Amino acid sequence: MVKVGLLGCGTVGSGVVKLLEQNRDIIAQRAGEEIVLHKVLDRDVEKCRRLGIASAKIAADVEEILKDEEIDIVVELIGGVEPACSYVLEAISQGKHVVSANKDLIAVKGREILEAAEANRVDFYYEASVGGGIPVIYPLKQSLAANRIKEVIGILNGTTNYMLTKMSREGLNYEQVLKEAQELGYAEADPTSDVEGLDAARKIAILSSIAFNSRITLDDVYVEGITRITPTDIKYAAELGYVIKLLAIAKEDEEGQVEVRVNPAFIPADHPLAGVNDVFNAVFVKGDAVGDVMHYGRGAGQMPTASAVVGDIIEIVRNMRSGCNSRLGCTCYTEKKVLKIED
Ligand code: NAP
Ligand code: HSE
Repeated sequence: MVKVGLLGCGTVGSGVVKLLEQNRDIIAQRAGEEIVLHKVLDRDVEKCRRLGIASAKIAADVEEILKDEEIDIVVELIGGVEPACSYVLEAISQGKHVVSANKDLIAVKGREILEAAEANRVDFYYEASVGGGIPVIYPLKQSLAANRIKEVIGILNGTTNYMLTKMSREGLNYEQVLKEAQELGYAEADPTSDVEGLDAARKIAILSSIAFNSRITLDDVYVEGITRITPTDIKYAAELGYVIKLLAIAKEDEEGQVEVRVNPAFIPADHPLAGVNDVFNAVFVKGDAVGDVMHYGRGAGQMPTASAVVGDIIEIVRNMRSGCNSRLGCTCYTEKKVLKIED
């Protein structure tokens, strides 16, 4: 039996609790072991109680989870850089494997965390940090590893894609559609990250670091969000045969220089990305051997994101059983020149 400690019982955390219960049998079969939620922490204990978590499993303090020797895997779903970073590093130093969906953290501290995981011979997995439920990090690190990647282009933020879709289809205004996205659990705790393009920037920093085997952080990404897009812009674009999407783009040129950006873009209405609507995300990868690959699915929301988090937990349990770890956590980066894009 493998025991999990969960930090954060909000939108995604509660999805993880539900999914571990709902698919307990099939998860145990695939992992090869029963996976049990041992302790849960949230600032608001009522959130845990509402999910039916027994009082004995509700931690009063984070140390109750990080120092619990019975816990094998810590799942960090509180969000933000601190205290999440300290908690993750402490869990790793205690010899625990960690799963996180926290792109804010990984986009700035990913290398430090991966190095700590490697040094402590534990796994750090973060599939849910990009593209919600879409498998994209694992395929990039594993199935596409033989390719020289030329470019990655994505619609990487579900909130803004939902907003742009609604503004386009129903002519709703910006405030209305943002409120809807928040109510559906798509937006970040502070939705400024979504609408200003920072969330997509963090995700493309993570993807481009993997794709170009380099260390690309949030500071390297040129960012422009959708706050200035109006229903009128969308209407005029449609009249000209275009749709407006918030794109995240990372490219490597022949000299090995990398350019990474997030900005709203006009896309021809017949382009495959133009048909990616609502909360859906898509990631195009161009590899020298494979050609074009597109990953598509729900980029945010409780259960799609929980699907990716629990998938990581299962993979870690398999690694534990086979006695190997950090298959995805390689920290052998090449430093690359990142082109600065000015406004
Ligand atoms: P959320 O609904 O705000 O849940 C986070 C929970 O953790 C909240 O209950 C929060 O309490 C609690 N918390 C925060 N800091 C804490 C602390 N120091 N100690 C104890 N509890 C703490 O957020 P979420 O949407 O589940 O997102 C969780 C993570 O997943 C974030 O990193 C997010 O970026 C990522 N993610 C989210 C989605 C999505 O669709 N929502 C998709 C992919 C990735 P308070 O509410 O009191 O702050
Ligand atoms: N707020 C994020 C989004 C959640 O809307 O895409 C998924 O990372």
